[in-house]
Amino acid sequence: MAVAMRIDTDTCSRCDLCAAICPNGAIDQVEGQFPGRNPARASLCEQCGQCMAVCPSESIFVGDLTYQRDFIPFDRPRDAVDYSAFYRLAVSRRAVRRFEDRPVPQELLEKVIAAVALAPMGFPPHKTAVIALTNRTAIAEMLPHIVKFYANMVAGMKNPLIRPIIRRSAGPENMDTLENHLMPKLTQLLPAMKASGPDEITRGAPAMLLFHAQRASANHTQDGIIALAYGLLAAHSLGLGATASGMVPPAVNATPALRTMLHVPADHEVVSGMILGYPRYRYQRGIRRELAGVTWV
Ligand SMILES: Cc1cc2nc3c(=O)[nH]c(=O)nc-3n(C[C@H](O)[C@H](O)[C@H](O)COP(=O)(O)O)c2cc1C
Repeated sequence: MAVAMRIDTDTCSRCDLCAAICPNGAIDQVEGQFPGRNPARASLCEQCGQCMAVCPSESIFVGDLTYQRDFIPFDRPRDAVDYSAFYRLAVSRRAVRRFEDRPVPQELLEKVIAAVALAPMGFPPHKTAVIALTNRTAIAEMLPHIVKFYANMVAGMKNPLIRPIIRRSAGPENMDTLENHLMPKLTQLLPAMKASGPDEITRGAPAMLLFHAQRASANHTQDGIIALAYGLLAAHSLGLGATASGMVPPAVNATPALRTMLHVPADHEVVSGMILGYPRYRYQRGIRRELAGVTWV
């Protein structure tokens, strides 16, 4: 169904920026007239809010979006952050796996979550939801379940009858991770993990964020990974340290006790997660890294 659109004709200057910016051509630009719905493409409006964000006089209204509730003013749209500030943020961020033994105040976690909510998604609204674990006790309770999940995984990978089943359900990308990253690591670390040795999974972190979404929802995997990237950068900007946790989501998804403990809805899967806390050590320098390739065309 087409999303309703209204123009305040008292204030609209007919600059037509709303029509020009609409990613779906759902707004008509007719010389000398006020902008209106393009009837042929009205149903393509996703309420992304770009028309309202660009309007200099707050004259266009789409769906149930309001300027007061749904938009955030900023002063200098062109140079809100310059490249050197972004580069400094990116170069000084590292995976932090050693934490101070103190909790992260909830207001900082709320700030991380507020930044994550600004992440792009396949199309609005967000499908990504977050589970915020704010204390070490809750995270520690997850550990035995996660270790059991990986112990079973290692046993399955070593079993010639079960390994092909894992291969089929994991797919080539996850199988590569399993064979070339997790198996060598887990084979070595599992005995100590089972004996409640050092926590090599959640690293003693005092907080964790898990991003989840309905299993069947569009784009949710990519959305969840981008949410994670925003979360990692936001945490760093707040003086927190964080690391993506690739090991926790599969264990949560496959373990009923963890799903119950974390209130993961039955039709949802956890896509990505991060541990976070105050870094015990401060890095003195960034690391030079290059992509696997750069092709200029
Ligand atoms: C998708 C993803 C999953 C990851 N999973 C883990 C993990 O389970 N445990 C861990 O210690 N680090 C994990 N990391 C962190 C990476 O190992 C780390 O980002 C990488 O070594 C580069 O180091 P840097 O972030 O310090 O630059 C993960 C990173 C990503 C992007």
